[in-house]
Amino acid sequence: VRLVRTVADLRAALRAPRLQERTIGLVPTMGALHDGHLALVARARETCHEVVVSLFVNPRQFDDAGDLAAYPRDERRDAALVAEAGADLLFAPAVGEVYPEGFATTVSVRGPLTETLEGAHRGRAHFDGVATVVTKLLNMVQPDVAFFGQKDAQQALVIRRFVRDLDLPVRIDVVPIVREADGLALSSRNVHLHGADRERALALASGLRAAQARIAAGERDAQAIAAAGRDAMRAFDVEPEYLAVVDPETLTPLRAVEGTALIAVAARVGPTRLIDNVLVQAPEKAG
Ligand code: PAF
Repeated sequence: VRLVRTVADLRAALRAPRLQERTIGLVPTMGALHDGHLALVARARETCHEVVVSLFVNPRQFDDAGDLAAYPRDERRDAALVAEAGADLLFAPAVGEVYPEGFATTVSVRGPLTETLEGAHRGRAHFDGVATVVTKLLNMVQPDVAFFGQKDAQQALVIRRFVRDLDLPVRIDVVPIVREADGLALSSRNVHLHGADRERALALASGLRAAQARIAAGERDAQAIAAAGRDAMRAFDVEPEYLAVVDPETLTPLRAVEGTALIAVAARVGPTRLIDNVLVQAPEKAG
């Protein structure tokens, strides 16, 4: 894999493939790569001629300085994984390359999509930071397709929103969550789960499973479904920040689950804040 650090080098490296009309796929990451990221790279490898992975820990999307300071970083390991996964280019810019002196522009998606769930708990700066950096990465790489994980379901919706609103010429591909054998959704922050916290982290997947089971058993009332999820989490001594049953497109709370629903959860497990979600389809009513 070829490592480039500047936008100028990136554009130079992509000039030939672009002239040859080879399709370009971008997998934006903040490093600390795990199998969830590698599933994005694999999908890009399958569907695009040229695969670019970006590695940039974006300070603007962290609402907590401690979380930014503790964010795991190991560029050499990430570069080896990206090479093994068959990417062509690794774009790893310095902070000053992305945010030059005097930087003064923010891309901000307003409304329910960013005010609820993660937006409500982390504050507006988080999704503003994501929208701004992803817009920049899309402009730097100008990919045909960009790949994101369903684990950050709200982020994926926010990205789809501004891509459509700003007419950015890119297709957004959202790839399913990758889980450990015991159900824990892969996350770069899982490296912070030590001792009993690793077991307690199963609270999120268990809560989602319990909620899903209630729907499969015929329950339609969103409050009852969410309560079943919260109860299951309590067995792990974990209290969610939220466990919400929402419309999968608009994220507005559902009163009853009739068609598809997104169940999203966030919780602190020890010092680590985790999120997870599942898309569910209510079975047709019998008779
Ligand atoms: O999902 C992430 O890792 C980040 O939010 C992203 C999309 C790379 C933007 O910094």
